Amino acid sequence: MAENSDIARRVEELRAEVARHERLYRVENRPEITDTRFDALLRELRKLEDAHPDLAPPDSPTRTVGDDRLEAFETVRHLRPMASLDNTYSRDELFAFDQRLLRVLAEERADPGDPLPYIVEPKIDGLAISLVYENGKLTRAVTRGNGEEGDNVTANVRTIPTLPDTLAGGGHPGLIEIRGEIYMTLAEFRRVNGEREAEDQPKFMNPRNLAAGTIKQLDPRVVARRRLEIVLYSVGALEGGRFDEQHEIHECFRAWGLPVVEKYWQAQGIEKAWAAVEELDRLRSTFAYPTDGAVIKLDNTNWQQIAGSTSKAPRWAISYKFAAEQAETVLRKVSIQVGRTGALTPVAELDPVVVAGSTVSRATLHNEDEIARKDIREGDTVIVEKAGEIIPAVVRVVTEKRPPDAEPFDFAARLRDLGHNAERVPGQAAWHLKGRNNPELTRRRIEHFAGRTAMDIDGLGTEIVRQLIGADLVRDLPDLYRLKAEDLLPLEKFARKSADNLVAAIDASRANDLWRLIHGLGIPHVGAQSAKDLARHFGSLDALMAADTEILAEVDGIGPVMAESITAFFADPDNEARVRALVDEANVNTRALESRDETPQNLSGLTFVITGTLPSLSRDEAKALIEKAGGKCTGSVSKKTDYLLAGESAGSKLDKADTLGIHVIDEPKLRALLEG
Ligand code: IVH
Repeated sequence: MAENSDIARRVEELRAEVARHERLYRVENRPEITDTRFDALLRELRKLEDAHPDLAPPDSPTRTVGDDRLEAFETVRHLRPMASLDNTYSRDELFAFDQRLLRVLAEERADPGDPLPYIVEPKIDGLAISLVYENGKLTRAVTRGNGEEGDNVTANVRTIPTLPDTLAGGGHPGLIEIRGEIYMTLAEFRRVNGEREAEDQPKFMNPRNLAAGTIKQLDPRVVARRRLEIVLYSVGALEGGRFDEQHEIHECFRAWGLPVVEKYWQAQGIEKAWAAVEELDRLRSTFAYPTDGAVIKLDNTNWQQIAGSTSKAPRWAISYKFAAEQAETVLRKVSIQVGRTGALTPVAELDPVVVAGSTVSRATLHNEDEIARKDIREGDTVIVEKAGEIIPAVVRVVTEKRPPDAEPFDFAARLRDLGHNAERVPGQAAWHLKGRNNPELTRRRIEHFAGRTAMDIDGLGTEIVRQLIGADLVRDLPDLYRLKAEDLLPLEKFARKSADNLVAAIDASRANDLWRLIHGLGIPHVGAQSAKDLARHFGSLDALMAADTEILAEVDGIGPVMAESITAFFADPDNEARVRALVDEANVNTRALESRDETPQNLSGLTFVITGTLPSLSRDEAKALIEKAGGKCTGSVSKKTDYLLAGESAGSKLDKADTLGIHVIDEPKLRALLEG
C-alpha cells in the first residue's frame, strides 16, 4: 500500500516535471534540459504508467504530442492530424521495432521472411510545420499545435526565401498537406545571438528555439529579418494523387521546387538501415540543418497503412536519436552572473574540456533548485553535456570522486558573501537583486542607459559609472542629469576637459530620439529594434505608457511576452518614479523625431543583386524600392549577397548564386519582403 502511494506520487511528480519542460520547450522556447534528459523523464513515466495503467489518464504527456499554440494566433484544424514519432537511443530497440513490423505484416507479404524495405532520413531539429498547397499555390501554413489544431502562421512562413509560393512543374494535386521542418542555420543563429549579446538581451539556447520563437512573432517583418529555412519530407491530406513509396515523396517535392533533405537512404532490412544510420551520423555535420537523429520509416505506404498508428505516433516509423556528447571534468567554482535586470544566475566554472567539438569551460546551472536537486558542490567531478549548439549543462555529479571536504552549495550564503542584496522571487526558483539603491543593479542600469544602442553617452563607461556610484554622486538614472563638472573634478581620472566633455555628452543626450530613451530604460525583452517599433508606433512616451497589454501586442514587432513585460515595467512604482524624474526634472525628449509614415526599413542590412527582366518593375525601380527600405544593391553576386532578385532570362548570376547557396527571389517575393 505504502509502495503504491509512493509510485502514485512519483508519477504525479514526473508528469508535472514533463509538463513543465514541454512548456519550456514548445511554448517558451527556452528549454532547461537537453532532449536526452527529457526523453529519460518521459521514459520513466511511461514505464510506471505501463505497470500501473490506473495511473495513466488519457491526456498524460506519454499519450499526447504536447501543444505549441499561443493565444495571439488563429487556431486552425489540420486536415490530417500531425503525429509525433516514437524515439529511441538504443540499437536493440531499433531491431525490436523491425521484429514488430515483420510480425504485423507477416500475413500481407508473400515471403514474410524477406527483409522489410526501409527509408532512412535525417531527423531535422527544427519545428514541425504543415503547409497546404491548393492547385500548386501555397494557401496556408500551420504549426503542429496539439497535433489536431495548430497556429496559423502563414504570413510568417511566406517570408522564408527558399519556399516557393507556387509549385514548379505541372500536374499538382488539387490539395496537398506538405509537412516538414522550419529551421535556422548555425551561421544565422550565431549572427542573431551576436546582435542580442551586443544589446544585452538574453541569448537563445540553440537554433531550434530561435527558429520556433521567430515563427511565433506577430510581425512578419521581424521574421523576415531573421533568415529562416525550411525542409519538407512528408504528406498529410492528399486529394488527387497518391504516393506508393516514401522516397517518391522526396523526388516529387524536389521536382516541385521545394527544399528537401540533402540525402536519404533506401535500405533492405534493418541491418542495412542501421548502417545508414551510422553513415548519417558521420555526415550530418555537413548538412545545412541541425540534425539530432535519424528517422527510419517503412518505405511502402500500403504497409504503413496496415501497421497503423497509436494515438501519438505511427507504428511504421521510429526515430533513432544521437545522444548528446558528454565529458567528465572538475567544477572549480560556482560564480554568479548578474543580468541587466538584476537576475542572478549560477554558472559552473569548469576545468576546460572538449565536448562535441568545442572547448567548454563554463556551463549553466540554471538556478538554486537545480543545484540542490543535483547536489552540485564546488570541487565535484561532474559530467557535462552539450548537444549541437545547446549551451553546455552539468548533467550530474560523479559522487565517487567527491572530495571529502566538499560542502553542499548554499546559494543564499554565497549571495551574501558576494555582497548581493537579493531575494528569491516568490513562486519561482530565480533570485533577483533587490532594492532601488542596489549599487550593482544601478551600475548595470546606467551602463545600459548610456550604451551605444541606447542614449549613446560618450565617456560613460563601466569604470566611470563605478566611480560615480562609489562617490555617491549617482544613485539612479535621473542623477546623471544633475551632475556638474565641479562634482567630477575630485574623482580619479577626471581633468577639467574630460569633466566638461562628460557633462556635455550627458546634456546632449536629452535631445535623443524617443527610441533611444525607450531602449535605455532597460525594459526586459525590449531590444533596440523593438524600441524603434514602439517609438514609431506611439510617437511619444506618454502614449506608450498609456497603452495596455492588448494594444501593445497589436503593434507590429511586439509579441505577447514583450507586451506583458512593458506594462509590468511601467506599473512598477520605482520604474514610474524614475521615468517621471527623467521627463519632468531632467527634461529628456519624449517624442519620436522620425516622421511616422516613413517607409519601414524592412531590408535594412540586406544586400541585393538584381538580374534578368522583372515582370512589372524596371531594374532601377526595383533598386530604388530596395534602397528606400534600407537595403543595398550591388552589381555582382558574392558571399556577401543576401538575395539575388531574378527575373526572366537571368543568366550567369543565377548560376553563381546557386553555387554559393545565395537565396534567389522573384518580384512577388521582393514585394512580400518590402511589405513584411
Ligand atoms: S516523419 C507521422 N521525418 O520530428 C510521421 N519527422 O520527434 C511523423 N521530424 O513530429 C513525421 N525530421 O516534426 C519525420 N525526416 C523526418 C523528420 C521528422 C524531423 C520531426 C517531426 C516529428 C518529430 C518527432
